[in-house]
Amino acid sequence: MTTETLMRAARFHEYGPPSVLVVETVERPEPKAGEVLIRVRFAGVNPIDWKLRAGSLKQYMPVTLPTIPGLDVAGTVEALGEGVRGFAVGDRVFGRGASTYAEFAVAPITTIAQIPDGVSFEQAAPLHVGGVTAWLGVIDSGHVEAGQRVLVQGGAGGVGSIAVQLGRWKGADVIATASTANVEFVRSLGAREVIDYTSVNVEDAVHDVDVVFDTVGGEVTAHSWGVLKPGGILVTCVGVPDAETAAARGVRAEATRRVTDTRPILEELVKLVASGDLTPAIQHVFSLDDAARAQAASETGHGRGRILLKVAD
Ligand SMILES: NC(=O)c1ccc[n+]([C@@H]2O[C@H](COP(=O)([O-])OP(=O)(O)OC[C@H]3O[C@@H](n4cnc5c(N)ncnc54)[C@H](OP(=O)(O)O)[C@@H]3O)[C@@H](O)[C@H]2O)c1
Repeated sequence: MTTETLMRAARFHEYGPPSVLVVETVERPEPKAGEVLIRVRFAGVNPIDWKLRAGSLKQYMPVTLPTIPGLDVAGTVEALGEGVRGFAVGDRVFGRGASTYAEFAVAPITTIAQIPDGVSFEQAAPLHVGGVTAWLGVIDSGHVEAGQRVLVQGGAGGVGSIAVQLGRWKGADVIATASTANVEFVRSLGAREVIDYTSVNVEDAVHDVDVVFDTVGGEVTAHSWGVLKPGGILVTCVGVPDAETAAARGVRAEATRRVTDTRPILEELVKLVASGDLTPAIQHVFSLDDAARAQAASETGHGRGRILLKVAD
């Protein structure tokens, strides 16, 4: 093994608390057919990363230990796998890779896109998990249109902060929920009304909504039905909404779809960033060495936009 085939990465050898994440020198991955190798500049820190590390999903999403976490990535193409067309070494790209808490990560070309001039690596890094999920909720399942009333549950989060902006971009009347500290922040994203969920019951305050996009789940999903108008839709990216409740209330309900070729959505999202219609919110940027602290911050479940790891300048 030469130093050129090695890299630094944050990984865990056992399920457990954030402290099981350690930065080590490991072998660089190789891009397979249809993949590129990316020199990582920024990696996104998402709830799924720490849920997998904590082992809470191990029954249905087991990982092979040791595991390098991370899906969101922005960086430059370092090498091309067999048969790759449309990308060249040196291209600035972003999207969904595998094990992106590392100096190098591979990604299939179906889940990455080019970063246009005027958009930074930092702005592009949070666009896959947060942006694609928000797109699937607001545009794909919600079919949000100008003039409709939309409620985003969890408007401050990595998904919700993009969903609020997509609703506003579509010309909808956007209402969102947030904790006290995030009310003004969510209003600045384009929500006309922000409900402080710590003091107000949203079902008492909001009615006649066409689309609820729920990014919180659990009790929040259960307390979202009452805001919908007849024929409205509840879309959630956390769990599967109860079809019987939806039918009994005369509304529709869907979980966000799973999409394997996300490049068309990424291209739309990054165009909106370039035009100024979408500003990805970055809560905090940690170094790769601070990956455990970054996951602990994400794990609080409260924040303002996406947490990133800056892996290289
Ligand atoms: N199905 C999928 O493909 C998919 C994709 C992405 C994410 N997800 C899931 O979606 C969820 C959100 O992801 P994320 O990346 O947006 O997480 P995140 O960045 O950690 O944000 C979570 C947000 O939820 C808000 N929140 C917490 N409790 C709330 C409540 N009772 N009412 C309203 N808002 C509340 C917090 O805002 P405050 O600080 O203001 O409380 C926080 O900003 C996670 O469970 C994640 O695993 C699923």
